Amino acid sequence: MEKGTGTTAGEALRSVFTELSGAGVPEARTEAEFILMHVLGAKRHELFLDAMRELTADEEKGLEEIVRRRIAREPSQFIFGEAWFRGLELKVTKDVLIPRPETELLVDEAVKVAGQLKGEIRLIDLCTGSGCIAVAAAKEIPGSLVYAADISAAALEVARENANRAGVADRVKFFQGDLFGAFSSELRGQVNMILSNPPYIAAAKIKTLEPEVKDFEPLWALSGGPDGLDFIKKIINEAWGFLVPGGVLLMEMGYGQANAVKGLAESSGAYENIEIIKDYWKIERILKAGRKA
Ligand SMILES: C[S@@+](CC[C@H](N)C(=O)[O-])C[C@H]1O[C@@H](n2cnc3c(N)ncnc32)[C@H](O)[C@@H]1O
Repeated sequence: MEKGTGTTAGEALRSVFTELSGAGVPEARTEAEFILMHVLGAKRHELFLDAMRELTADEEKGLEEIVRRRIAREPSQFIFGEAWFRGLELKVTKDVLIPRPETELLVDEAVKVAGQLKGEIRLIDLCTGSGCIAVAAAKEIPGSLVYAADISAAALEVARENANRAGVADRVKFFQGDLFGAFSSELRGQVNMILSNPPYIAAAKIKTLEPEVKDFEPLWALSGGPDGLDFIKKIINEAWGFLVPGGVLLMEMGYGQANAVKGLAESSGAYENIEIIKDYWKIERILKAGRKA
């Protein structure tokens, strides 16, 4: 067995917590535990049961490097290259947005809509990023066929790998392009659901976000133009053309955008049964709109 450094897991946990909280890292205690779990290859309860276990020199070196990056406010998902979404462990790199818990709700709604449909279900996931929505939807809607698109080739590479890891690569097809421009016109009028979490943050607001977001996540995944609605407007205007009559658009939006988004869907004249769905924090988060027959 490798010789210990004299630093125990308990001491390392306390010192990482102190460093992270000193650097203003949110939820420093949870983050410190998470980092130690990774470095020691331990489950959370083992950190406490085995608090006197000494770190090896390699573990201590690895820990220092991780803490250095986290103090610089790099998100732990980028440091470890993984993120969880609807029970799936996904690969993430700096080319993709880290999947957010509120986006899981979009898949929840898609699963509910799918439950009311018969026959083969076709979905589009626009602005797929890590592929989190596309992959989870394919996994949770058996037999469905997902057409996923993004403008970023690097993001699509990550999304492809995630589809492979989740065992749904045969049912998720990836396309590169600007919004619906990624798809062939043969797909028009053929899709039961369009899911999207587009960039929707107002450009001027980005500099006010946490360093983890503004300094590390890709700007092109965040910025939705001056009022944040550039992509949302385009998607509302074009989505109906790809939906079957009665098909459903489910799209995520930002805090305070619900009235504008609902207004855009209504004034387009293309949708009915327009609803705004709140997330787990009671924030208006998802537009649900059916294509008029
Ligand atoms: C908010 S992220 C969403 C990523 C992922 N769907 C999720 O929920 O985590 C937006 C994504 O839109 C992509 N994007 C930006 N501009 C685009 C465009 N014009 N056409 C297609 N995708 C675009 C970005 O590359 C990014 O992956």
